[in-house]
Amino acid sequence: MKALMQELRENALKAISGADSADSLEALRVKYLGKKGELTAILKQMGKLSAEERPAMGQLANQLRAEIEKNIESMRKKLDAAALEARLELEAVDVTIPGDEVKLGHKHPMYKALDEIKDIFVGMGFTVLDGPEVELATYNFDKLNAEEGHPSRDWSDTFYFDKDSRVMLRSQTSPMQVRAMETMELPIRIIAPGRVYRKDEVDATHSPMFHQVEGMVIDKGVTMADLKGTLNTFMEELFGEGTVTRFRPHHFPFTEPSCEMDVQCHKCGGKGCPTCKGEGWIEVLGAGMIHPRVLEMSGIDSEEYTGWAFGMGLERLAMRRFKISDLRLIFENDVRFLEQF
Ligand code: DAH
Repeated sequence: MKALMQELRENALKAISGADSADSLEALRVKYLGKKGELTAILKQMGKLSAEERPAMGQLANQLRAEIEKNIESMRKKLDAAALEARLELEAVDVTIPGDEVKLGHKHPMYKALDEIKDIFVGMGFTVLDGPEVELATYNFDKLNAEEGHPSRDWSDTFYFDKDSRVMLRSQTSPMQVRAMETMELPIRIIAPGRVYRKDEVDATHSPMFHQVEGMVIDKGVTMADLKGTLNTFMEELFGEGTVTRFRPHHFPFTEPSCEMDVQCHKCGGKGCPTCKGEGWIEVLGAGMIHPRVLEMSGIDSEEYTGWAFGMGLERLAMRRFKISDLRLIFENDVRFLEQF
């Protein structure tokens, strides 16, 4: 029996030291020490021993059990440590691998032009306002002296939300004039850039969505000379010294007198070319002295105060500023185009 135990001991310790997982270790524990295990099988033969032999054999069996358990335990620790090591290895992050390059974009050329435009006007004491693109006809038309029946109110030109034509996508940034007059203290000097919407087909110079920058000055003693001086200074700041401009008479319901301002074509220097459609000039904005009725409708005394206003096409200014030939390039967002700025 002693020899059997000796044999069991050797086999067990050898098997344990060769175990390669917690599961196989547990299987060995069951095999050798379990209720139906090998040690139990040996101990069942205790009955054959004499009463004197039994205690010594029992003690031997206990020692053997303890030794095997100890071995299993220390092997389990070894396997656990090895498993942890393997997992750490697997999950290790190699901090020396070069990272994926993050491609940083940059501002769209039109918004670069807008930044320059804002800078110039802020430098002249203007405040920049933001306003809603979904607008009331009251602000877009009525309070700008464009009465019912005015051609610009037509359904063929304007995106309305309701059948009564009271709520719309603003067709111009001019409603910001009314919003400024209603909320700001006099004197007022503001610009208000933003998107506007009209039912136009897309071509080289048209889009159903485009951008305007509205501007307005109201103070005592403001004249058309201030309008011309300010806008000429602005154009020279944006396009460079010596930029040639001209003012032509025009009509807008909210200004009297009204004008349009042209900048000499940068492509041909005024001779006439495809970019300026043979004109030599590019129209960049509408402007005028604010109609007294518009001032009065927003509660400003037109005897005491006068003002001027303008609305310019941001895309057109950006196109001239960065020598872009087709409006569609501005909206298509082809990175090969955008990367050039
Ligand atoms: N809102 C006009 C347009 O979209 C542009 C304009 C003209 C704005 C004269 C003004 C202005 O403020 O005084 O064509």
